[in-house]
Amino acid sequence: MSTELDSYETDAASQLAACGDAASLEAWRIAHLGTKGRLKGLMSLMKDATPAERPALGQRLNAVKQKLEAAFEARKAELSSAREAPRGIDLTEPGLDLASGRRHVLTATVDRIVEVFGRMGFEVADGPELEDEWHNFTALNIPPEHPARDRGDNFFLGGEAAGKLLLRTQTSTVQIRAMESTPPPLRVVAVGRVYRPDDHDATHYSMFHQVEGLAVDRGLTMVDLKSTLLGFAKAFFGPEAEVRMRPSFFPFTEPSAEVDMRMPVKGTWQWVEIGGCGMVDPAVFESVGIDPEVWSGFAFGLGIERVTMRRHGLGDIRRLFENDARFLRQF
Ligand code: DAH
Repeated sequence: MSTELDSYETDAASQLAACGDAASLEAWRIAHLGTKGRLKGLMSLMKDATPAERPALGQRLNAVKQKLEAAFEARKAELSSAREAPRGIDLTEPGLDLASGRRHVLTATVDRIVEVFGRMGFEVADGPELEDEWHNFTALNIPPEHPARDRGDNFFLGGEAAGKLLLRTQTSTVQIRAMESTPPPLRVVAVGRVYRPDDHDATHYSMFHQVEGLAVDRGLTMVDLKSTLLGFAKAFFGPEAEVRMRPSFFPFTEPSAEVDMRMPVKGTWQWVEIGGCGMVDPAVFESVGIDPEVWSGFAFGLGIERVTMRRHGLGDIRRLFENDARFLRQF
């Protein structure tokens, strides 16, 4: 009796293990646990047993039934999780490292500069990279015979537009565009590419980026200019940053100055030349129809590559434009 049950149990268990899909599993359930299944048939052994044998046989049958039911549930669970995970994939294996993208180091610098000036009340302005001589020179008080207009120092277009359009050499063009489109008072900041026909070496490139600032209001002075630059420097580089102005000349500002900022250069604070600034020249106001007797303004232009390179201790500007991911991933 009990050997018969033992061999039935091992048999049923091995058949169950061989079930590889939901259909064969269901067929097994009907054959063994169903109302007309093998187990039900074995129950009839009870009536052939002597009263003395019955209790032990009953217990044994129950135990076999419970075991097979539990084995069935376990197999069912096993098969359904196997369906979710196709065979041959080891879910415990670590995944592939997804390379995440990041902003170019220059873009990150530009975004931060714009954000800081934004907090200081400057709105973002922009203008075209392909400019006319009026915006790049004339309106900025750069006279016709000025050496900055030399053909060799500019990318003038050929063809029909020959001599008329050029790739802008400075973002100061956007000062003019902003004043043409918006009546004062105004405070704008513009970031963009500028172009000069320089031979490429470690410190020169024929394209680079500048950030330009312009404020026009009643009664602005050099103090407003300096405190704006200082506020920027402290927000951008940290509270220990300082600003120094050295007298200089630009046609579009009077007086004019070179701007140095004391910034962390690979961890040590150093003075770095970063651009030019000054009070808007009355001739510039006149070229855009703003009355210099009523309005005054200050302007500044800073080099983005310069700040970025000094900050990160980069020695070669060309690295910034080669798009070598191994270089760019460092930032
Ligand atoms: N445009 C100048 C340059 O490219 C930089 C500059 C100097 C901009 C003085 C200004 C300024 O707005 O006021 O060298």
